[in-house]
Amino acid sequence: MARKLEGKIAVVTGGTSGIGLATARQFAEEGAQVFVTGRREAELSSAVAAIGPNATGIRADSASLADLDRLYARVKVEAGRIDVLFANAGGGSFMPLGSITEEQVDDTFSRNVKGVLFTVQKALPLLVDGASVILAGSTRPAPARPASASMVRPRPRSVPSPAIGSST
Ligand SMILES: NC(=O)c1ccc[n+]([C@@H]2O[C@H](COP(=O)([O-])OP(=O)(O)OC[C@H]3O[C@@H](n4cnc5c(N)ncnc54)[C@H](OP(=O)(O)O)[C@@H]3O)[C@@H](O)[C@H]2O)c1
Repeated sequence: MARKLEGKIAVVTGGTSGIGLATARQFAEEGAQVFVTGRREAELSSAVAAIGPNATGIRADSASLADLDRLYARVKVEAGRIDVLFANAGGGSFMPLGSITEEQVDDTFSRNVKGVLFTVQKALPLLVDGASVILAGSTRPAPARPASASMVRPRPRSVPSPAIGSST
């Protein structure tokens, strides 16, 4: 029986641990060629070894537009398109009000807002018609509205955070 993602090209940002790594492994098991990213080279190598021969690791910080350009340039050369994009890279630290620093705010917003937005926007030229774009989030899903749909085409499907959390 054909596997669900046979022949598909998937990109998973932050694919070196946690939800991203588990998803990348699943995608590869389902037959996809998977590109995974992360900022740490050693973790990237371990992840590629864990995912298997259908995985390619590309060191990229999602908060860096130059890194995203390098990522997609390589995907374009090696695969030519994207069928599934999982903008998963994110996370950060929590600090009590009174101790929050500018660096922490910049890091949090760069990873979880700017990084996610440009990960999707810069992928647009490579997304096939009908591609799946999946965003990792920490809040309840809200129905997509025209403003968000025009930012992310095709329209993203929100994954409820309990489902994301339970997959680790
Ligand atoms: N776990 C939860 O319960 C939960 C709940 C709600 C939402 N989420 C969201 O789900 C996503 C995954 O969570 P997780 O718990 O699996 O996290 P995790 O285990 O900490 O993994 C995060 C992954 O993202 C990468 N990463 C972080 N910042 C990055 C950046 N700027 N550019 C590229 N890669 C980056 C990390 O690798 P490097 O550090 O090497 O870059 C790592 O591969 C995150 O966006 C998180 O906010 C998680």
